[in-house]
Amino acid sequence: MNNASARASGRPATRLRPRSALVSAVVGLALVATAVVVSSSASAATTLGASAAEKGRYFGAAIAANKLSDSTYVGILNREFNSVTPENEMKIDATEPQQNQFSFTNADRIVNHAISRGMKVRGHTLAWHSQQPGWMQNMSGTALRNAMLNHVTRVATYYRGKIDSWDVVNEAFADGGSGARRDSNLQRTGNDWIEAAFRAARAADPGAKLCYNDYNTDDWTHAKTQAVYRMVQDFKQRGVPIDCVGLQSHFNAQSPYPSNYRTTLSSFAALGVDVQITELDIEGSGTQQAETYRRVVQDCLAVPRCNGITVWGIRDSDSWRSYGTPLLFDNNGNKKQAYNATLEALNAGGTTPPPTTAPPTT
Ligand code: XIL
Repeated sequence: MNNASARASGRPATRLRPRSALVSAVVGLALVATAVVVSSSASAATTLGASAAEKGRYFGAAIAANKLSDSTYVGILNREFNSVTPENEMKIDATEPQQNQFSFTNADRIVNHAISRGMKVRGHTLAWHSQQPGWMQNMSGTALRNAMLNHVTRVATYYRGKIDSWDVVNEAFADGGSGARRDSNLQRTGNDWIEAAFRAARAADPGAKLCYNDYNTDDWTHAKTQAVYRMVQDFKQRGVPIDCVGLQSHFNAQSPYPSNYRTTLSSFAALGVDVQITELDIEGSGTQQAETYRRVVQDCLAVPRCNGITVWGIRDSDSWRSYGTPLLFDNNGNKKQAYNATLEALNAGGTTPPPTTAPPTT
C-alpha cells in the first residue's frame, strides 16, 4: 500500500510513514557508508606535495635554475613538490661574487617560479665555509666577520618575506668523535660567529624561520649530533634566535640511515625548534632504497615538529651523487619504487610504527 491508496481507502497514511522513514534511514546510512568509503579512497593524495600538505607538511626538492627550461623536469617539479631549495644559486659565491656586488638573477628565477606557483622556498645558505667566492676565501679576522654579517644582512633583506626557512649557517661542526667546531676561516673569527649570523638574519627577515643545517647529524649517538644538539640547546637557553634544525640526511653505505633517526628528530624537536629533513637522498636501488625512504618519511610524520622533507634533486641524473641513483625519479623522469614507498608512507599518515629506540636521556 502506498500513500495514494491509503488516502483512497480513507485510512490514515500515518502507518506508512514509519516504514518510509526506516527505508530512508537505511538508504541514508548506505549513502553515508558509501561516502565514507569514497572519501577515504579519494583522500589518498596522488602527489608528494599534496599528501604532505594533508599532514601539515611540505615536500620539497632542490632545483637548479638552468633546468627550468627542461619540460620533463619542470613538469615533475610543478606536479609533485610544494617547496624548493636552490641547489647552488643562493650560496655565497653565487650571490656575492665580488665583495658588495650582489647577483640574484639565478636565485630569482627559482624564487619567482616557486612563489608564482604557491611553493615555499628554503634559502640555502647564508654562511658556510664552502662555496665562498675567492675574495671571501682570502679574508680573515674582523674584516671577514663584517663581510659575513654584511652578506647575511644584504641577502636576507633582499629576500625578506619570500623565504619560509633560511639555512643561516651550514656545516659548522667537525666530523668524527671530537664534537668540535669545524676549523674554517669563519670559525677563526671567533666561536660566536654562528650566533652573530643568526642575529643578523633575524634582524633582516623577522618572518623567516632560521635553521642550523648539517650532515652526519642523523645518528643520535654520534658526537657531531650531540654537539649540534648542545649548541641549539644553548641558543634556546640564551635567546639566540633559532627556529629549526636541518638534517641533510645524505644516506649511503658509509653514512647509513640510523635506526635511532626518529630519536634524533624528536630530541631536537623537544628543544623547541622545528626539524626539517633538508637534503634527503638515499643511495641504492629497488626495495632496499624504497624501504629506507619509507622509514625516513614515517619517522618525520611521527614527530609533530618535523614539518618538511626536501629531496636533493628530482631525477637520479640531477643528483650531485648521480652514480648512487639516490632520488625518487629515474633519469627519464619515471617514478621509482622509492617514489611509491614515499607516497604510500605520506598517505599512511599517523599509522607509523613505534620508535625503534628508547627515548633520549639527555
Ligand atoms: C652540492 C650541490 O648539490 C652541488 O651541485 C655542488 O657542486 C656542491 O654542493 N651539503 C650542502 C649542499 O649543504 O649545498 C651541497 O650541494 C651538498 C652537501
